[in-house]
Amino acid sequence: MTLPLDAGHLAATFESVFGASPDGVWQAPGRVNLIGEHTDYNDGFVLPFAIDRTARVAVRLRPDSTIRLLSTFGNQGLTTADAGSLSRGSARGWTRYPLGVLWALQQRGLQVGGLDLLLDSDVPRGAGLSSSHAIECAVITAFNELASAGLDARDMVLATQRAENDFVGAPTGIMDQSASLRGAAGHTLFLDCRDQGIKLVPFEAESAGLVTLVIDTRVSHSHAAGGYAARRASCERGAEVLGVKALRDVGLEDLDRAAGLLDPETFRRVRHVVTENSRVLRTVDLLESTGPPAIGPLLDASHVSMRDDFEISCPELDLAVEVSRSAGAIGARMTGGGFGGSAIALAPVAAAQQVRSAVEGAFAAARYTAPSIFSVRPAAGAMRLA
Ligand code: GLA
Repeated sequence: MTLPLDAGHLAATFESVFGASPDGVWQAPGRVNLIGEHTDYNDGFVLPFAIDRTARVAVRLRPDSTIRLLSTFGNQGLTTADAGSLSRGSARGWTRYPLGVLWALQQRGLQVGGLDLLLDSDVPRGAGLSSSHAIECAVITAFNELASAGLDARDMVLATQRAENDFVGAPTGIMDQSASLRGAAGHTLFLDCRDQGIKLVPFEAESAGLVTLVIDTRVSHSHAAGGYAARRASCERGAEVLGVKALRDVGLEDLDRAAGLLDPETFRRVRHVVTENSRVLRTVDLLESTGPPAIGPLLDASHVSMRDDFEISCPELDLAVEVSRSAGAIGARMTGGGFGGSAIALAPVAAAQQVRSAVEGAFAAARYTAPSIFSVRPAAGAMRLA
């Protein structure tokens, strides 16, 4: 992997490409979700954290309506668009994310003119770590400041969600951008997705002798594709039959009644969401009372629920989780939307190498593509760098 450019180098590269220095450089992180999967669009609870992998943008506003976009990666070259004619389906590759944000801001009635933008990122793409939201959050943070748009964090969350849902075409919730915009170093972000209320919960794995490993299975996922949307539709159907606004309003005590009202598949989907919400609340309690070593069983239970009830895992994720556990991790689960992407394993520092080797060995034996395994820690949310 190439090293990220620091703000000075990014600004210098910007100047050599666009012929003038940028107005500033901003960054926003990717995320992992510690627990609380597919609960966000059910008005439920999530517990993600921003990671120490970021997207960085150098941006300069232009006096005209021309938008010029370039990244340090890939082979897309310079993309040119016009702020006056942004429309769904008109963008491709990574440029859908900045253009989607600008489009969503226009939909809110904001005046969006031209700009030059250079992007660099070390958030692995297609790994379920929200590389797209990292870009969107860096762009919206930059624009908000440069254009004095006056958006608060909640507004920015909703605008980036609009960009994803209506411009990119992925029917996702608000977890990823909330973590990227509102995360804090050393903390997980406990988010109530009904009202966007947050609480920062300390998560200092290292000081408890633990490390959070990400195992990127290299199985690519796409939330614009059918599986995610189908799960969302099942949840909405379940809520409708049960007569509630959202599955957030269904408790563990309601599950027996739900079993009698729902078809077996919808019931399993509902059971995942209901039990997952309760696992998030329990995880927050345990982190606050005991600390990270106590949460392993909840991570494991979350994975089982996603594998068996929500059916969003895949053989590679299951193998990563099982082998991590048997090699010494205290808990492991797939993270993010599923159908590929990454798992996380919470492992004692002393066992981390063993977990890595065991997972690599198991993937080789199964003839799966070699996974990419690295550690992450909770890092700061979006900010200006220069
Ligand atoms: C993706 C979406 C999020 C959330 C997760 C599943 O990451 O972008 O909104 O729904 O999947 O928890």
